[in-house]
Amino acid sequence: MSVAEATEPVSTADGRQIGGVLMDMRHITLRFGGVEAIKDISFDIREGEIRAIIGPNGAGKSSMLNVISGFYNPQEGEVWFRGERRPPMKPYQVARQGIARTFQNIALFDGMSVLDNIMTGRLTHMRTGLFRQAVWRGGAQREEMANREVVEKIIDFLEIQRIRKTPVGRLPYGLKKRVELARALAAEPNLLLLDEPMAGMNVEEKEDMSRFILDVNDEFGTTIALIEHDMGVVMDLSDRVVVMDYGRKIGDGTPDEVRANPEVIDAYLGVAHD
Ligand SMILES: Nc1ncnc2c1ncn2[C@@H]1O[C@H](COP(=O)(O)OP(=O)(O)OP(=O)(O)O)[C@@H](O)[C@H]1O
Ligand SMILES: [Mg+2]
Repeated sequence: MSVAEATEPVSTADGRQIGGVLMDMRHITLRFGGVEAIKDISFDIREGEIRAIIGPNGAGKSSMLNVISGFYNPQEGEVWFRGERRPPMKPYQVARQGIARTFQNIALFDGMSVLDNIMTGRLTHMRTGLFRQAVWRGGAQREEMANREVVEKIIDFLEIQRIRKTPVGRLPYGLKKRVELARALAAEPNLLLLDEPMAGMNVEEKEDMSRFILDVNDEFGTTIALIEHDMGVVMDLSDRVVVMDYGRKIGDGTPDEVRANPEVIDAYLGVAHD
């Protein structure tokens, strides 16, 4: 890809404009002992797009999100973010660059309220540690108020006002997933990574979640990379799709291109999934 191609906005199949390259994964290889979870994969994520990652179980999709979010550092390859090569980083450092995520298995504090769980999403923005809070109360209070404001906005946005005081452990699964999205949004990310945000949901819950994802992208301009097994959802939501199989990339393009790709049909689309 030339420099111009990387920075220029492009039009997607349905006429939507997406921006220049935000995240560029180049020849990524990730191994766990003898297992190659990712084998020499390159793909990019453009500013403002919804990018789906699909593929059969064990294909390496979550591993790829984990590389982007700094949970794993690949043995080979380069991660480029905003036109600069990113050195190996810890997850909290990646978070400070404006990248937030949700997990395939919900990772919330069950005993804490919805509100307090979402507040933990503000941690990357908090300048005041406990010590400074003790000696610098005015500033800490202002910061706390600003954080509350962001969190309240997100609670309204995701329509979870009525459960704000409920301990997360008491919520049904679909709402827990929504709270996890809320916590990720509380970080006000530029790039949001969602690992199977609709897994295990019924049709109605999936529709709600799809709408929220589209609204986040639309209203906040957040770039989104998501892993999803439901092909209907993927086709509806995404601008472009990467297809993985056994750690390799076997397809990359618009939903229509990917759907027509014989290798993708063989490996993935022709068979049933959970
Ligand atoms: N921490 C780990 N240690 C060892 N092997 C791992 C680890 N994480 C993932 N793997 C292996 O890497 C491969 C890819 O796993 P990954 O979880 O990325 O797949 P996936 O595409 O997300 O699958 P699923 O759809 O089931 O979530 C699998 O063979 C898995 O067993
Ligand atoms: Mg996974």
